[in-house]
Amino acid sequence: MMEQLGLIGYPIKHSLSPWIHTKFLENTNFKGSYSIFEAREDDLLHLVQTMKDKGVRGFNVTIPFKQKIIPMLDELDPTAMKIGAVNTVLNHDGRLIGYNTDGIGFLRSLEISHPEVVDNKKIKILLVGAGGAARGIYYALKQAGYLSINITNRTIEKAELIVGRDKSACISLKDAERNLQEYDLIIQTTNVGMRPNEENSPLYLHNLKSTAIVSDIVYQPIWTKFLKEAEAKGAKVHHGYLMLLYQAQFAFEIWFGIVPPLNEMDKQLKQLLEG
Ligand code: ATR
Repeated sequence: MMEQLGLIGYPIKHSLSPWIHTKFLENTNFKGSYSIFEAREDDLLHLVQTMKDKGVRGFNVTIPFKQKIIPMLDELDPTAMKIGAVNTVLNHDGRLIGYNTDGIGFLRSLEISHPEVVDNKKIKILLVGAGGAARGIYYALKQAGYLSINITNRTIEKAELIVGRDKSACISLKDAERNLQEYDLIIQTTNVGMRPNEENSPLYLHNLKSTAIVSDIVYQPIWTKFLKEAEAKGAKVHHGYLMLLYQAQFAFEIWFGIVPPLNEMDKQLKQLLEG
């Protein structure tokens, strides 16, 4: 049987998801295809209905529809409900169920690249940013049992919305910079530093300790200014393309019930991105 998969978003012509999921299909010997569907907001409802009618196995959703799609689905997984955004939809016998794989994808990629964090749930974590990506990562970290997570953001009120009652976990960018030596793991979740604004960085790292792990979810470029500065300080770095790969792996798992092997895909994806 030919399995149909796809991606809905705008603009998505340069998305790497078709490459990733086509490899997963090959690696698991499923026969299928992954197509991209560029949509305007007016077309979204019709497109979602078409996906259902065509009997697709599932699809991904990206900017700008991760929230707008929610009322068009039949069911929401509890994590997607908490995050308030959907990036993966499963067609389960004609019912569309929304999931969010960003947070778990990030966590998997981190714990595989830096296994030393797994048994050390007391590490002090700083999340930079308070958008949709930060929200997903925050919940995944909490769910995994990490005990100390602070959030810093340009707009502090948005950080407060994520943490709920524990407002003291939210700090200004200035305070974060001043006290950066306190943190063992720093996760950059904003789009600051993304091509074509590679010269930007959301946070000065002069107080970073050399034993820290510094992660940036931006993957274009692979070496953001943030990560270059972290490496220059002697810190260990964690690249954004790994989150891209593992959030896709978790989506594939939701669609097919098996974890697709990556084989050499991490190296290949890095090469692709390096051009
Ligand atoms: P996503 O869903 O991809 O996380 P988002 O919800 O638009 O995107 O969130 C973008 C994040 O990047 C926010 O934390 C935003 O900060 P604000 O909440 O203050 O807007 C942050 N961000 C975007 N541009 C920024 C900039 N120039 N400087 C600092 N933070 C920025």
